[in-house]
Amino acid sequence: MLGHSESIESVKRYYDALGEKEWDRLAATMRGRVSLEVHRRFLGRFVQPGWRVLEVGAGPGRFTRELAALGTRVVVTDVSDVQLDLNKVRLRGTDAEHYVERRELLDVSDTGRYADGEFDAVVAFGGPLSYAFERTDEAMRGLLRVVRPDGFVVASVMSLLGTWRYFLAAITTLGEVVGEDANDEVLRTGDLRHFAREPGDHICRMFRWSDVEALVERGGGRIVDGSASNWASLGDPQALARLEADSGRWERFIAHEIAACAEPGARDGGTHILFAAGAP
Ligand SMILES: C[S@@+](CC[C@H](N)C(=O)[O-])C[C@H]1O[C@@H](n2cnc3c(N)ncnc32)[C@H](O)[C@@H]1O
Repeated sequence: MLGHSESIESVKRYYDALGEKEWDRLAATMRGRVSLEVHRRFLGRFVQPGWRVLEVGAGPGRFTRELAALGTRVVVTDVSDVQLDLNKVRLRGTDAEHYVERRELLDVSDTGRYADGEFDAVVAFGGPLSYAFERTDEAMRGLLRVVRPDGFVVASVMSLLGTWRYFLAAITTLGEVVGEDANDEVLRTGDLRHFAREPGDHICRMFRWSDVEALVERGGGRIVDGSASNWASLGDPQALARLEADSGRWERFIAHEIAACAEPGARDGGTHILFAAGAP
């Protein structure tokens, strides 16, 4: 299995190569569009206009734009210089760019350059904490440290159980190709490196809701709230297409979906897990 530094390098290369396609992740599919809405509304509950926010793993800027729309000032960061450049290009000439304080390269585990409590909130959507591997605890502690005591860390990580359920066919195939021992290890640890064979393979660490709770607790924080990224929207695509075709029904569906995703019994059910954490 890849070691920590090789893993970070591999993820960086993956996102450098993915480039512009990362922008489509939350727009191209129905589950992506629902996930975007769930993330967008979750974010809106935890940041206030005028706040100074550290955005980690910002990618091309879907949530940088949202943070700007919410009236926050943003330090935009990412481990991939390609993604950071794309963020600049995407926001260039838009009002959102006025809300960007600066952009810098940052590994989620290396927040030592920031002062204690210097941000009102930290946002790490789309899995930066899933790419911290052996330094996940350190990364979580760092994010909690740089946020002021009554601010929030708002993050999402890849979900182990929801991903297994939704991608059962692909994961079963990987088990057949790579071996059932690797499959057992992925399901035990959430670590996709047990499946990785080629240099370009996507690797990450997936979490159960109980892992997220334990991670926050070990980091010295407390969970304020949580949600799945999807519950019903990983279901029948044709039913979903009918709902999306009618804006009134879609809006009602999204409201039901967001309420369902927040239920403790649903938090493991989507492809991602969202959480907000603060000081105890
Ligand atoms: C799935 S994208 C999410 C982008 C954006 N936050 C969103 O939710 O749309 C994951 C981002 O995290 C970045 N990333 C990966 N590993 C990271 C690490 N160790 N530290 C910081 N960012 C990382 C990637 O370069 C990529 O831009």
